[in-house]
Amino acid sequence: MELPLYYDEETEWSKAMLLYTSALKEFNTKLEILSNEFKLAYKYNPIEHMSSRIKSPESIARKIRHKKKELKIENVIKYVNDVAGIRVICSFSSDIYRIADMITKQNDVKVLKVKDYIMRPKPNGYMSYHMIVTVPVFLSNHVVPTKVEIQIRTIAMDFWASLEHKIYYKFEGSAPARIRTELKRCADIVNFLDQKMMSINEEVQKYNKDNSWQDKENLYETFDADITEAYGHVFNDTEDIVAES
Ligand code: GTP
Ligand code: MG
Repeated sequence: MELPLYYDEETEWSKAMLLYTSALKEFNTKLEILSNEFKLAYKYNPIEHMSSRIKSPESIARKIRHKKKELKIENVIKYVNDVAGIRVICSFSSDIYRIADMITKQNDVKVLKVKDYIMRPKPNGYMSYHMIVTVPVFLSNHVVPTKVEIQIRTIAMDFWASLEHKIYYKFEGSAPARIRTELKRCADIVNFLDQKMMSINEEVQKYNKDNSWQDKENLYETFDADITEAYGHVFNDTEDIVAES
């Protein structure tokens, strides 16, 4: 009796992992398509880079234990939202909402939960935009909506989060007050930097549209060529008239 039961659990686990790895592939493809479209159609791509991972069995078990649930597949599916996780890194804060919006509008994607730590940063200073979504995974006989966690943030926010994560683990969650204060101060600087970079970018965009010297120079060159071709003879005629008088 024991062996088949163990075998069943192992198959169940493998099936669940197949769903999560497939959902991750599906979602990575979606984001890659958006990124490629931006590269092709516009001069600017809001996606700086992306990374994805499947949570390790040890971390899954730790989370289930932390939530005081029995370690079984059913509970993993129900209570662990980040078995499949994708991180999207953008250049500017404004890009974050553009990407979130593009994801939300895809009609096979269902948004289950959003946590906007940009509008409302965590007390420690953490900033990021989190979405829990499901994406359909098409198997031979049925379709399974499978959860994926998406974290969207800027390069600067990501820089902060990766250091904070290391410090958190180093001190097992209770870093000295001075370090926590300094980290919060860094988060404020990150926020300031992101705002500053965004406004410089907005100015550059405007400059490109209305004031580009290069565009103007090209415009004058074309104007010059057109006008010579169209009215060159008129100028010559005028010279003749002037010469006659
Ligand atoms: P878990 O923290 O994953 O159990 O889920 P939750 O319900 O608290 O969700 P939340 O959206 O708050 O966090 C999801 C993930 O975001 C975490 O697993 C971390 O990867 C990341 N995260 C959340 N808060 C912080 C933070 O303060 N610092 C860092 N570095 N990462 C964080
Ligand atoms: Mg997590």
